[in-house]
Amino acid sequence: MEIPLYFYAAYRDLDRLSPGSEETTLRVIDNVDLDRDDELNILDIACGVGTSTVLLANHFEKSTVEGFDMFEHYKNNLEEKIDENGLSDRVYAYQMDMRDPDFANEEFDLVFCEAAIEIIGFKKGLAEWKRLLKPNGYMIVSDVTWLRNPSSESRQFWKNIYSEVDTIENKISQIRNLGYEFIDYVVVPKNDWKDYHNGLEKNLNSLSGDKSAKEFVNQIRKEIETYRRNTDDYSYVFYVMRKV
Ligand SMILES: C[S@@+](CC[C@H](N)C(=O)[O-])C[C@H]1O[C@@H](n2cnc3c(N)ncnc32)[C@H](O)[C@@H]1O
Repeated sequence: MEIPLYFYAAYRDLDRLSPGSEETTLRVIDNVDLDRDDELNILDIACGVGTSTVLLANHFEKSTVEGFDMFEHYKNNLEEKIDENGLSDRVYAYQMDMRDPDFANEEFDLVFCEAAIEIIGFKKGLAEWKRLLKPNGYMIVSDVTWLRNPSSESRQFWKNIYSEVDTIENKISQIRNLGYEFIDYVVVPKNDWKDYHNGLEKNLNSLSGDKSAKEFVNQIRKEIETYRRNTDDYSYVFYVMRKV
């Protein structure tokens, strides 16, 4: 599958392809009881431009970190970051599908997936990726979650995009039902969304003359406006859990 060029243009120079920040990711990682001096194996699923992959590598300084994405463009982005940060001895980039990750069972101490599990589905992703974790290994995923009873606009918007948007309480039950120990959750804060949307908007303005991008640009604008009108309704929420 080829991604149109305007897609890359819309996300150009953004740190992430989702709302987030170094501060938020570090708050999330703080919940795992792993020794930073150990030589751990870490996987970043659907790494996008690789910012969190590198952050994980910098935080767990002795660990091997592998990141993959479905698209060559993002694999190349991560490779560039690996070179820039001098991490080629322990960070690796692959092109791979999250529906069939080509790794052995029980290979990882930590599996991380930011803003992408909706592609396979929350329950399916957690069920299928569990095999990748060592016993007691940690899984961290973020997923779109209702923070309160949402407006009909929010409901309608997400209904067309992702059927597994749910409350924190229900997500935690699903995690437990899939045989994980639930550890904690972290809500991606409004400021992360604000910065992300401001960056996106700047890029969209530069695409205004591209007729082929019109539908795509309108969809992203709708995503931004829906969020701005309903900031208290939903967010990405990181869930930290452990394989038991
Ligand atoms: C919203 S972005 C999140 C990227 C990154 N984790 C972040 O937070 O910036 C979703 C990512 O999933 C990737 N993707 C889409 N389908 C995929 C698949 N089947 N397997 C692996 N990656 C996929 C996209 O290329 C994109 O990089």
